[in-house]
Amino acid sequence: MKALKLTLLGVLFSSTLFAQSENIINVHNRSVTSLNGEWKFLIDPYENGFYNYRLNAFDEMGNPPRSAYFTDSKQYDKTELLEYDWDTSPTIKVPGDWNHQDPRLQYYEGSIWYRKKFTYSKTYDRSRIFIHFGAVNYRADVYFNGVKLGRHIGGFTPFQYEVTDLIKEENSLVLMVNNNRKPEAVPTVNTDWWNFGGITRDVLVVETPETFIKDYLIQLDPNDPNSIRGYIQIDGEIPSQKVSISIPEAKLNIDFVTDSDGFGTFTIPTKKIEKWTPENPKLYDVVISTQQNKVIDEIGFRTVQTKGADILLNGEPVFLRGISIHEEVPYRVGRAASEEDAELLLGWAKELGCNFVRLAHYPHNEHMIRKANEMGIMLWEEVPVYWTIHWENPETYANAAAQLEAMIQRDKNSAATIIWSLANETPVSEPRNEFLHKFSKLARSLDKSRLLSAAMEVHTEPGKPLEFIVEDKLAEYVDIVSFNEYIGWYNGLPDKTLQSSWKVPYDKPVFISEFGAGAKAGFHADSLTRFSEEYQADLYTKTLQMVENIPNLRGFSPWILTDFRSPRRQLSGIQDGWNRKGLIGDQGEKKQAYFILQEYYQNKSKN
Ligand code: GCU
Repeated sequence: MKALKLTLLGVLFSSTLFAQSENIINVHNRSVTSLNGEWKFLIDPYENGFYNYRLNAFDEMGNPPRSAYFTDSKQYDKTELLEYDWDTSPTIKVPGDWNHQDPRLQYYEGSIWYRKKFTYSKTYDRSRIFIHFGAVNYRADVYFNGVKLGRHIGGFTPFQYEVTDLIKEENSLVLMVNNNRKPEAVPTVNTDWWNFGGITRDVLVVETPETFIKDYLIQLDPNDPNSIRGYIQIDGEIPSQKVSISIPEAKLNIDFVTDSDGFGTFTIPTKKIEKWTPENPKLYDVVISTQQNKVIDEIGFRTVQTKGADILLNGEPVFLRGISIHEEVPYRVGRAASEEDAELLLGWAKELGCNFVRLAHYPHNEHMIRKANEMGIMLWEEVPVYWTIHWENPETYANAAAQLEAMIQRDKNSAATIIWSLANETPVSEPRNEFLHKFSKLARSLDKSRLLSAAMEVHTEPGKPLEFIVEDKLAEYVDIVSFNEYIGWYNGLPDKTLQSSWKVPYDKPVFISEFGAGAKAGFHADSLTRFSEEYQADLYTKTLQMVENIPNLRGFSPWILTDFRSPRRQLSGIQDGWNRKGLIGDQGEKKQAYFILQEYYQNKSKN
């Protein structure tokens, strides 16, 4: 019931006109046709393709005028007045933000239309067809062969629509994408990252049998490491199906029948299953099959919990040697959405000596999650409940909840994912505490098997500027007490780290989710010159000494692996629209601090 309610929430929130179907899990391993590549686009700051000159929205559901861009009309003869023609419009790459693909769009915030024309022929007559979007930032109105499928809000989570009854030989898929920042949105209007707009992740046509395996949870029972448990959700005309789950390499299998809602749970006793760990990221082929459908997934099996101040992976204490990452790669500007991008970023993290990565500040693309499972990198995943969102607005909560649900629904089988984070640096208030308390309960109702955290803030008491305190109601709602601290950058100079003392009054694991300093790669000076590599290196050296004094510390994810784009960073000749706290510069240059952290992690991993 809960899942259904939350799905309704998701549908309600995205105010779709056509049933936005709950996402098909493990979508890349289904029978898919990629729509990635060149799409047509139209820049539409006045939303002229959506409203007439009296600002009346074109009738999306009935009989829209041919001037509406989503009708994809062609002049029927030379006399017809049409002020657009998709076939002669310019092209843009999908996936990819528009900001870095056209100099006119670097700072553009508004609406841009996309159109993809494609032919399709079903493999089987009775197949069902879905259009699946990895993510579109920030709001998407989706039309298929002139029919409005729906509107999706939220820039970093997948969504899809069923188009079985609309697909033809020749098809026109049209989106109006809008990335205007809004106070009530999630995130709100102020962030420290670039507002990359557009279809920023894969677009897939998914073909399934008429009745198919839509969703499943398959994981080691958190309360019994000698059994694998979970559920299967079938979708289609014959919901009650015999389902077989097998893990051939472990010689495990089980058959059961789903109920009239297509739902069934299972438990498989496992005498010996190789646990997933960063040192040995064992993934098993799991085969789920029914009469009409077979799905193969690669799943790792592990348990994660806390015990007092310890984080236990498969029952053993673990120290999280982390680094934070935005979804951007150096060498080019823009969203990083490919498997190669994931390999590059996670490869650097591995080389740094990391066993953990904080995927900041929003759900990253699925390639990152899958690659981390393969490479043995534990993950912190989060939704963009960031800074000053509107805590008292029910729509804001519904938006955040829909994003949390979509992230957990997509990644619930990811062994690498050990932490869901609820918020980042949110100013303490009663409405914020209520929002996050309710949000924490939602997260636990969606997934009891992972740990909750949030990036809290540090404060000091009057007259004691060197005693740093982490004390926040939010710490009671989560399993790991995490905080961002910038002593030596936003608060004094690096020496201040060595004068500091810490008070974190919780019998829980403590984690530093951010520390760091800016440095322009290649800029060298003394260690007190801001933005020199020497300053950043000195901050890291001193912070890595300071952390030894923090009670219950079980890891950290310094800010940040690579420089990233931010309109807040205006220092000409040094920042130029880049946040320079990366250990790696925007052309892939490793700064001095990279090697300081690398040496620390190499020593840490030995003991
Ligand atoms: C904050 C925030 C980051 C930001 C960083 C900075 O902690 O969480 O998103 O980029 O500080 O100021 O560089």
